[in-house]
Amino acid sequence: MQFAGSHILSIQQFEREDVEQIFTIADRMVPYARRERITRVLDGAILGSMFFEPSTRTRVSFGSAFNLLGGEVRETTGFESTAIAKGESLYDTARVLSGYSDVIAMRHPKEGSVAEFAAASRVPVINGGDGSNEHPSQALLDLYTIRSEVAARGRPLSQLRIAMVGDLRFGRTVHSLCKLLNLFDGVQVVLVSPEALRMPADIVESLRETGHDVLESERLEESIAHVDIVYSTRIQEERFNSQEEADLYRGRFRLNQSIYTHHCEPNTVIMHPLPRDSREHARELDEDLNDNPNLAIFRQADNGLLVRMALFALILDVVDQVDTHARDVGWYTAGRF
Ligand code: CP
Repeated sequence: MQFAGSHILSIQQFEREDVEQIFTIADRMVPYARRERITRVLDGAILGSMFFEPSTRTRVSFGSAFNLLGGEVRETTGFESTAIAKGESLYDTARVLSGYSDVIAMRHPKEGSVAEFAAASRVPVINGGDGSNEHPSQALLDLYTIRSEVAARGRPLSQLRIAMVGDLRFGRTVHSLCKLLNLFDGVQVVLVSPEALRMPADIVESLRETGHDVLESERLEESIAHVDIVYSTRIQEERFNSQEEADLYRGRFRLNQSIYTHHCEPNTVIMHPLPRDSREHARELDEDLNDNPNLAIFRQADNGLLVRMALFALILDVVDQVDTHARDVGWYTAGRF
């Protein structure tokens, strides 16, 4: 695809070679993310960061990625801090804010809203999550993480075996990840959820049409026994009609160290897009796994920085200039990546 000037709205806009290109550039961002070097390649550029739903990782890592490339960030968080609270349309908001920014990252609770905004924007827009629909940059960082974690364990990415667990109905990260896996061959996918929270049928169908081996299950222990990756997800309480309804499913599938030890193959990688729900009645990924070296959740979050830096460099067409605007840094940088 032509990255320069393009919106990133769905993972389905990518071909396999686009994904490989993003990952190659993400690899090149490591010295900058580690703060061994700094680059000012986006000096003077402005990212408009518009998050109308809560976010820690996506909002801050998009902003940090832009800062690490030398650009500045202007943020709005929540509807109440914008004129949308006074009735302004997405169209008007997009027309105005795209005059103030070079690129915009946006999250919104309604499916399709980021695409609607992008249609009126004069600058590229990146979907940071639109309702339960898609979260394309998360899928990219998830696959980037899967690739490095399985390679570190001497396993091939082809013939990947992955279990996705939890709220597969409303979880936009697993929706985008399944669509991304359709670019690859021979994946075994186990979808573990309560009946009411199954993966949408069209996504399951497209996995099968690709030729992937798909199994749906309501049983955690047997589903995680022969996989390379267990990808746990939170019950997306914000998509339910009430907390009581979400409570029906919270805590249903809990992965802890004991279950991992008894049921998973050695070195099975544990992933989660985060946030995990660490409240007593939820704990889909127990904190007693924190010292398990196969818990990749924080490496996964770190990789978001690399992938988002790569996306900005591609969209703003500065990939070949990143290193020419760089220098070493002298401050203390230990402990990252
Ligand atoms: N993974 C993810 O989207 O996290 P945030 O909601 O914190 O952005």
